[in-house]
Amino acid sequence: MDKKVLVIGSLNIDLVVKVDRFHQEGETILGKELLTLIGGKGANQASAAALQDIPTTLWGYVGEDSFSSHIMDTIKKDTAIDLFVKNTPNSTGTALIETDLTGKNRIVVIAGANGDFTVDKAKENIDIINNYDIIVLQFEIPMPTITYLIQESARRQKTVIVNPAPALFIPDDILEKIDYLTPNEHELAILTNMPTDTMDEIKKAAKVLLGKGVKNIIVTLGDKGAYGLNEIEEHEVPCRESLVVDTTGAGDAYTGGFAAALAQNYPFYDAMLYANKGASISVTKLGAFNSAGSREEINNL
Ligand code: RIB
Repeated sequence: MDKKVLVIGSLNIDLVVKVDRFHQEGETILGKELLTLIGGKGANQASAAALQDIPTTLWGYVGEDSFSSHIMDTIKKDTAIDLFVKNTPNSTGTALIETDLTGKNRIVVIAGANGDFTVDKAKENIDIINNYDIIVLQFEIPMPTITYLIQESARRQKTVIVNPAPALFIPDDILEKIDYLTPNEHELAILTNMPTDTMDEIKKAAKVLLGKGVKNIIVTLGDKGAYGLNEIEEHEVPCRESLVVDTTGAGDAYTGGFAAALAQNYPFYDAMLYANKGASISVTKLGAFNSAGSREEINNL
């Protein structure tokens, strides 16, 4: 039987502008189209897991504005995600995203209600964790809340997956409680304060995190695929070729897909392959939410 996944994190409205090229400082350019999409690393990762028919709950906060009802209504209508999402008297988290003709992006995130997910709020409902096997976290809610949730999840012997995006320093006593850490190469550089420009440097930096007690590290490398390391295994999985439309949320599709693979009891390497396929499907679609493939699509690749 599949395990149950709880994603704890952000819900955003993504205001996406399509541009021919990114502009320079002080320059004004014309955008092509403005799209109002669902996003936030928490919501995106939950959608990727739910698309695999894994029982998935999303725990987070939205504001009290029209964006919040749009997010809630859309998630209820378009996905199988079970929502444990509350309102706070704030604006809903918002991301300003530019995507260029090659599918690359630039993102600015305004936390809004995601920033109201305090330790006290987490404590009020902490027992929800007991109902799940796999807990997935990212870094778009306050860091004290994240560290508290990692500690509580580890104490309850849950499988803890952490996508450290956007990257922030993680104390050593928290690192050792993480089962799977999924940084990209830039986040890995910030976490370790080491260069990660070459594959050799990436391997060295990943090894440092392993030495600090993280049990498995998967470095997502964009069009270079992913690198996975634990005490006994080391894998380089190349990127699958696909027609890139928009790379926004590819890392979320990877992390959510990886959680879904673990929920299906896939071993480490097979879970990497599975997540890789989901991410390769996500980049063929515009937007980050609900863009990873379904379980059937992934299995057919
Ligand atoms: O990872 C992509 C996501 O980052 C976007 O959906 C945006 O909301 C930001 O959180």
